Amino acid sequence: MDDKALFRLAKDALRNAYAPYSEFSVGAALLTETGEVYTGVNVENSSFGATICAERTAFVKAVSDGHRRFKAIAIASSGGKAWPCGICRQFMYEFGDALTVITGSDENHLEKYDIKELLLEGFRL
Ligand code: THU
Repeated sequence: MDDKALFRLAKDALRNAYAPYSEFSVGAALLTETGEVYTGVNVENSSFGATICAERTAFVKAVSDGHRRFKAIAIASSGGKAWPCGICRQFMYEFGDALTVITGSDENHLEKYDIKELLLEGFRL
């Protein structure tokens, strides 16, 4: 699966975002090492701090199904390119420092970094 195809899946997922408070929809598509894709969306809550981001939703779905190793995650949003927040960077870093993080305003304008570039010296116990 190439970057464009993964980004398209993130964009498709946007329609399921639950973002009535911010009206900022986010979709993520996470590619496992064995080729499966898990999508996720942001799910907001009236107690704002209970909101979960799209990236963590995708990871939680994949990890719950037994996956532990990942190649890439693509992120799309209703506001154009969207780099992951700090909590999501640490959450993703837990599962390895080789993950490629992809975003862009559309599939022809994608940008990417490794998670270790987005989170320098991430925390490990
Ligand atoms: N959001 C994500 O889903 N991922 C991020 O990395 C940053 C922010 C969501 C959370 C909230 O529902 C909305 O975007 C506005 O902050």
